[in-house]
Amino acid sequence: MDRREALQAIAACVGPPGVVDADADGERYLIDHRRQYQGQAAMIVRPADVASVAEVVRLAAGAGLAVVPQGGNTGYCGGATPGIDGQGTGERTILLSLERLRGIRQVDPVGYSMTVEAGAVLADVQAAAEREGMLFPLSLGSEGSCQIGGNLATNAGGTAVLRYGNARELVLGVEVVLADGQIWNGLRELRKDNAGYDLKQLFLGAEGTLGIITAAVLKLFPLPRERATALVAVTDVDAACQLLSLARRESADAVTSFEYLPRFALELVATHIEGGTNPLADANYHHYVLVELSSAAPEARLEARLEHLLAKGHARGWVRDAVVAQSEAQRQHLWRLRENVPEAQRLAGGSFKHDVSVPIPALAAFLAQGLAGAAAAAPDARPCVYGHIGDGNLHFNFMAPQGEGLAEHFEGDRGAQVSAAVLDAAAAHGGSVCAEHGVGYLKRPLLAGYQDAVSIDLMRRVKAALDPEGTLNPHKVIPDDPGGGE
Ligand code: FAD
Ligand code: MLT
Ligand code: ZN
Repeated sequence: MDRREALQAIAACVGPPGVVDADADGERYLIDHRRQYQGQAAMIVRPADVASVAEVVRLAAGAGLAVVPQGGNTGYCGGATPGIDGQGTGERTILLSLERLRGIRQVDPVGYSMTVEAGAVLADVQAAAEREGMLFPLSLGSEGSCQIGGNLATNAGGTAVLRYGNARELVLGVEVVLADGQIWNGLRELRKDNAGYDLKQLFLGAEGTLGIITAAVLKLFPLPRERATALVAVTDVDAACQLLSLARRESADAVTSFEYLPRFALELVATHIEGGTNPLADANYHHYVLVELSSAAPEARLEARLEHLLAKGHARGWVRDAVVAQSEAQRQHLWRLRENVPEAQRLAGGSFKHDVSVPIPALAAFLAQGLAGAAAAAPDARPCVYGHIGDGNLHFNFMAPQGEGLAEHFEGDRGAQVSAAVLDAAAAHGGSVCAEHGVGYLKRPLLAGYQDAVSIDLMRRVKAALDPEGTLNPHKVIPDDPGGGE
């Protein structure tokens, strides 16, 4: 079958509701969330079930067409955008959206698990678990539009990793369409299974380069009955880390979230987000953490524990001031301050982003080194460094000086030097230059520059074993091989 025939067969396989009219609706699928890339595809399809996904991949692979899977298209690294490699692959690429596979197949209150299809929106997955009195703890700012398949494919993090782990730790089993169109049914609910390699882990965090996730069995947890949440002004980042360590000990490990916010980030939120007032806006406070404790125990007395902890932190000189939420509305207000930081940056002109992690004890030294190096290269840039400090993960972003465009300020050598300052500092402290948002297309040069050669070689060998023809999401994640292959 030649490519034209394969495209006709694919269209017939998914039927008219499964073929997107690219002229009318293509933009939603072909341009990424941050509008960094304009993609290109020979066809955009939305199969309705796993058998059709498998058939599309089989037909595509047989005709030398590539397939790029897409979830909610909220990713930051261009991973879900087809045909952006500058090698003309768009003309021979199918964009395959999972959005019609959105069923919640089963919620199991005895096994504390649920089986969902890949296109289910994360917020719907959370709500389905909650309706049965359980918690699916993955929580991100994009949860209203990202899909569970995309979350697993990117090994998403978010604001509850400290307590529950990244997405890959929340999975018991997956169903995957492989590069040749076979379906691997790994939808196990087992808590223990050492029958050889843990194959599901290959597909989690692989960003659609090794297989297309079509369904998953997820771990659930008891719903928290109590929560205590505070915005805390801390002395500095080192104090924040000390407070985190104390909080874990003092709360019997009930710390669910521990997020760092510099004064500048809160000022952006106050300026650009309606109702984004900082309740601790004293001009002398420069560093804040949003701390949340949660427990499924009926009388955990979390608020009292949090207040005790804050008093201890104050006595040790780490805590300068704090506000503890007294109601669910106040709690949500504090969370709005944190969750709107990306949106506030966007509204304020966008930010030059880096997503890095280091071991928690190295955070303060890393931050100081990264900021000093960046200031030497771009003294007028405005750092907006914030994020999941409880996971050692900072979003090390910079904004242009007021009145100047982002691209204009960071183009060329200046931007390169800022990035080098941040990424070299992370590497020097044993960190990762791709902490949470994945690699996609955008960060392949970082992988080439900072990942050791043996790791990259292993990734190439895994890719070659699972997708020898390079059908799935070509030219993503793995840096191009100067010697030939992908
Ligand atoms: P997409 O963007 O559609 O795809 C992402 C990658 O996964 C692509 O490579 C794609 O090919 C692949 N893929 C998608 N579905 C499948 C599938 N079924 N099988 C195989 N491969 C697939 N990320 C975080 O980790 N933590 C955060 O705190 C966070 N906050 C965010 C806040 C905002 C406001 C926004 C816009 C984004 C945020 N993100 C965050 C980034 C993004 O939301 C996550 O990476 C998310 O997991 C992507 O899911 P998606 O369904 O949109 O995937
Ligand atoms: C966050 O934690 O807010 C996101 O991962 C970062 C972002 O959206 O830029
Ligand atoms: Zn994040």
